[in-house]
Formats: sequence, structure tokens, C-alpha cells
Amino acid sequence: MLGLYDTGSFEINEAYREIRTNISLNTDIKTIVFTSAEMDEGKTTTVCSIAKCFSDLENHKILLIDCDFMKKSVARTLKIDNIKGIADATIDDIYIEECIKKVDGFDVLTCGMSPSNSSVLLESKKFRDIIEKLKDKYDYIFIDSPPLGRLNDAAILARYSDGTIIVNASEYIDQQMAKVTRDKLEKVNANVIGVVLNKFKSDDHKYYKYYGYYEEERKKKSFFKRRKRRKRR
Ligand SMILES: Nc1ncnc2c1ncn2[C@@H]1O[C@H](COP(=O)(O)OP(=O)(O)OP(=O)(O)O)[C@@H](O)[C@H]1O
Ligand SMILES: [Mg+2]
Repeated sequence: MLGLYDTGSFEINEAYREIRTNISLNTDIKTIVFTSAEMDEGKTTTVCSIAKCFSDLENHKILLIDCDFMKKSVARTLKIDNIKGIADATIDDIYIEECIKKVDGFDVLTCGMSPSNSSVLLESKKFRDIIEKLKDKYDYIFIDSPPLGRLNDAAILARYSDGTIIVNASEYIDQQMAKVTRDKLEKVNANVIGVVLNKFKSDDHKYYKYYGYYEEERKKKSFFKRRKRRKRR
């Protein structure tokens, strides 16, 4: 269901668990917006995987909100419908409870209808009131958002959130875009709590190589021990 999270890769799952641990260390942080400088850096994949990873903790109520009204990718990634979402609750006064969907272990608010202007929606008192109300009901709220290099929406969200995480596809870093992102977040005094280096090319077999080396050493040692024993006899 969740793409990367479900690959069964020990290293990927461990990386998400490490992010979870780092976030949990600061108990004041409950609402986190995920953004990036550019498109396609892996925000949606990361935020869905982090929501799933947190939902594995016992007694944790997790909500994932899709506030990327251009892409609306959370519904597609989680294979759920996008009928009634956060925009419907904000614009059409639909009860928020009617818009919340349940997936594997956590709750989701998809985008829903398309607002004519997403930043106006995000700046509205109604939207902020909804977020405040939801904060009382959930242990963590994770928010997907559009890239800051294109829209200012993530900076608006960063103002009401306790923390902001920048997802950076490590295969490329455009210095100009990185500066735009930093400036926009600084302007709103965003609390940037971390950067996720995504699409990072690692040596997938490291763990197995190490294990292999260890096995070789163990075999060698037991061979010499056996030989010594034979000589003593
Ligand atoms: N770590 C990764 N390794 C390989 N592929 C990845 C990784 N993270 C994301 N992808 C893939 O990259 C593409 C973009 O990912 P995703 O939709 O999560 O990015 P995004 O930043 O949310 O994009 P957008 O700005 O369009 O909303 C998807 O096809 C996704 O499956
Ligand atoms: Mg996305």
C-alpha cells in the first residue's frame, strides 16, 4: 500500500524508524509539515511512510492531511478516494468527521474539492480552527504540502505547525531553489526540525556483506580450533 515502506527493506524501514525516534524526542512537536524545494523529491512517499511508521506505535492516534491541492497525491498513494476532504470541510462547512478516512492504522484527510486559491484557504480562520480542533484529537498530525520553490503554501502551513521537515532528493540539490526554500521558511519563523535525504543511493548489500565477512571469520576460527584439537590428540 505504501510504496517504499512496504518494500520489506530492512534499511529503509530502519531509516523511517530512526526519523520517528528523532521526532518523538521532542514531546512538544505534534504537527509537522513536510515540504521540499522542488517537485518529485519524495514528500508524499515520505509523509505516508512516516504516518504508517508512527501508527505502528501502540496507543498513538495519527492523522495525515493532504494540503497539496495541485497534486492531491496522498489519495493515489494510499489507494483511497478523494471524495470529501479538508477543502470540503473548510469551504462547504462539512463536518470534519465525515471527511476523515481510515487506512491501515491511521486516519487521513485527503484534499477533497479543489479550492480556487489554495493559499486563501490555508490562511482562512476556518482552516486554522479545524487544525486546532484536530490537534486535541490526535497525538501526531502530518501534513503533505507542495514544493516551496513553486508555491508559498508550505510556508503558511509551517506557521501553524510545530515543526517542518524538508525532504531533499539527494541526487540533486539546486542551490538557488535551496536558498528560496530557506528564505521562505525563515521569513515565517518556521521551526525546521530536520531534513530527510531521500533517493539516497546506498550500498544495499552492506548488511549482508558484513554478515558474510563475519561468517567467513567464524568458519576460519572454528576450522583452526578443530585442527588444534586434532593435533593435541
Ligand atoms: N526513496 C525513493 N527511492 C525511489 N523512488 C522514490 C523514493 N521516494 C520517492 N520515490 C518515487 O519518486 C516519485 C515522486 O515521489 P513523491 O510523489 O513522493 O514526491 P513528491 O515530492 O511528493 O512529488 P510532488 O512534488 O509531485 O508532490 C514517485 O514515483 C515515488 O515513488
Ligand atoms: Mg507529493
